[in-house]
Amino acid sequence: MNLTQFPRRNYVQDATPIEALPAFSAALGNKVNLFIKRDDLLPGCAGGNKTRKLDFCIADALEKGADTIITCGAVQSNHCRLTLSWAVKEGMDCHLVLEERVAGSYREDGSGNNFLFKLMGVKSITVVPGGSDMMAAMEQLAAEVEGSGRKPYIIPGGASNAIGATGYVACAQEIQQQLFARNLKIDHMVVPSGSAGTHAGMVVGMYGSNAGIPVSGINVSRTKPVQEEIVHKLALETAARLGVRESVPAEEITCFDGYVGPGYSLPTESMVEAVKLLAQTESILLDPVYSGKAMAGLIDLVRNDHFAPGANVLFLHTGGSPALYAYLDTFE
Ligand SMILES: Cc1ncc(COP(=O)(O)O)c(C=O)c1O
Repeated sequence: MNLTQFPRRNYVQDATPIEALPAFSAALGNKVNLFIKRDDLLPGCAGGNKTRKLDFCIADALEKGADTIITCGAVQSNHCRLTLSWAVKEGMDCHLVLEERVAGSYREDGSGNNFLFKLMGVKSITVVPGGSDMMAAMEQLAAEVEGSGRKPYIIPGGASNAIGATGYVACAQEIQQQLFARNLKIDHMVVPSGSAGTHAGMVVGMYGSNAGIPVSGINVSRTKPVQEEIVHKLALETAARLGVRESVPAEEITCFDGYVGPGYSLPTESMVEAVKLLAQTESILLDPVYSGKAMAGLIDLVRNDHFAPGANVLFLHTGGSPALYAYLDTFE
């Protein structure tokens, strides 16, 4: 797959580290060897997975002559923080539509990512109730922005379309090069699975290059069959865009839905344990909504002998730690 055929902004100039997690693996009984891909250290305000997707999405926006970005997310959206961050760097305006997925959860003076939206000078925040048609809300905003003489470009939630998912195909290529350079064989990857672009792109990148590294997603909101269908659909679209010869079979998509708890963004005991354990063994910060729940899933899979003894398992850290500061009570 030759990704140079697609315009991008070069936001990711260096590979993010792959680190061994010896103390964390020991805390789980050394059943497997855990490694972490530090996409939380990507450039862009406070790092995280969206930088790889926005590298391609914002290049597309600029090619189309846009000067204003409109996107959407939940009230503590990391995607919105990073979209705004890169819009600032590009000298573009950025408007956000925030979905109050948990009724009453938006606080104008909220900390975490909400604080960063204001700090980076977001042009506007529109809050809509959970379940709203987010595309319709963004299109309405785009019409208003256009009316004021600007040229808007809409990036869908999580930048999870075939353009954005290409960023995770690139990440899969980056990982394969790193593993080759270190002569490290990874048996399995585990990634958070939300709006699906990360999971879909990683599967296309691994499957499309015949890497032989299965990728499991840990859901943060939906049930297994619903999420697997969403990931598969996006993987097919992404593979078609890249010209991957063989279509990605549905069996390549595996999701686990046992770690969502009461719902999206709502804390669980296992998430708190995962966040504390990684912080206290490896001094790496997860987040309460995505990487914390995904790590809770990985911990449970290790404890339940899902992986062969001694397997090398790579966890993708997708970032999100600013949201921790909106959950201080949860960790007391
Ligand atoms: C920190 C973090 N991790 C993981 C995800 C999930 O990635 P995706 O939406 O590509 O499935 C998100 C999505 O917003 C996120 O903010």
